[in-house]
Parts: sequence; structure tokens; C-alpha cells
Amino acid sequence: MKRPIHLSHDFLAEVLDGQSVAVDATMGNGHDTLFLARLAKQVYAFDIQEQALTKTRQRLKEAGLDNVRLILAGHEELSRYVPRFKAAIFNLGYLPSADKSVITQPQTTLQALDQVCQGLEVGGRAAVMIYQGHAGGDRERDAVLDFVRQLPQQAFTVMLYKTLNQINHPPFLVMIEKLKEEKDQNG
Ligand SMILES: C[S@@+](CC[C@H](N)C(=O)[O-])C[C@H]1O[C@@H](n2cnc3c(N)ncnc32)[C@H](O)[C@@H]1O
Repeated sequence: MKRPIHLSHDFLAEVLDGQSVAVDATMGNGHDTLFLARLAKQVYAFDIQEQALTKTRQRLKEAGLDNVRLILAGHEELSRYVPRFKAAIFNLGYLPSADKSVITQPQTTLQALDQVCQGLEVGGRAAVMIYQGHAGGDRERDAVLDFVRQLPQQAFTVMLYKTLNQINHPPFLVMIEKLKEEKDQNG
């Protein structure tokens, strides 16, 4: 069976092509950025830690890819940099190889998610990997689930992919697909 992280990539790969713009909202070590850069025309990747940009720059260089804009800013500023895109990915929580006290925060995560829902093209998709095991992870999990449950069903489909029999707090995946612009939802 696919792990949630692998399904997140497959879910986005289905809508990406050489004309697409994609967003990595949590660059970290650049694994997701590299994945998106291989499929999309242009990628915008965000992180608040310089270390993430250094790691990701190196990873992209080794792969010979130059279609990524690495942005040292919080994803809550996303719409200032990229108004329209086909796919977005979030890997919430902390960067394993860095300071584990630097974690994504519910308030800014929700701001970014809101901007992603607005910026997605119709037919576009967002994948959100949720980590609930660290301190604060449960609050962020609840905030994200609350947010996505309230997305209007005429405009978005939201799905959850989660193991049901695993002990502790396994990471899980929320998948969002945009069906139409929210303002058009009654028309
Ligand atoms: C779980 S890691 C991401 C892993 C990454 N996707 C990869 O492939 O290696 C979470 C990242 O989110 C970053 N982060 C925390 N708050 C952020 C924010 N407001 N905007 C963007 N990134 C943020 C952290 O610095 C950390 O690098």
C-alpha cells in the first residue's frame, strides 16, 4: 500500500505538466521541490530557514534543474509571489535535520492554505501532509481539519488518507481538488 507521502506525489503528478506552475509551501530539504521541478514548468518554494534554501539549491543543482524560485519567506506570503498555480504541497511540522523548535504554526498554515485555495487553478490540487506527533502538532492538525471541512463542496473536494490501525500518531494526508472558483459556486 502506498504511504501517504507517496500518494501526495501521485495525486499532484496527475495534474502537472510542462506548462504548469507549482508551489512547495514548506521547502525543507527540498525533496518535494525536486519532485515538482521535474514535472512542472516553474516552481515557487518557500521556507523561513536559510538552511532549507541552501540544501534545496544544492539538490536542484545536482539534478540540473533551474526552474525553481527559492523564497526565504513564510508561506503566509505566498500570494504576493505567485497568484495562480496548478498544484501545491505542504509538509507540515519541523525539518528533521534542523532546529526542531522551528515548526509550522496553525495560524500561518491556515493563512497559506486559504491563499492556496484561492490561487489554485480550477482542476488544480493541493496536498497537505500532517504530522501530529510533535508538541503543537495536534493543534495544527485540528486547525487544518477544521479549515478543510468548511471548504464549500461546490468549489472543492477534500479527501483524507490515513492509517486507522497504527499506534502513536502517524502522519496522514489531506488532498484538496478545486472544482470551480468559490465566487462562482452558486452559478
Ligand atoms: C517537514 S519540513 C518540510 C520537508 C520538505 N518538504 C522536504 O521535502 O524536505 C517543514 C518545513 O517547514 C518550514 N516552515 C516552518 N514555518 C514555515 C512558514 N511559515 N512558511 C514556510 N515554511 C515554513 C520549516 O522551516 C521546515 O523546513
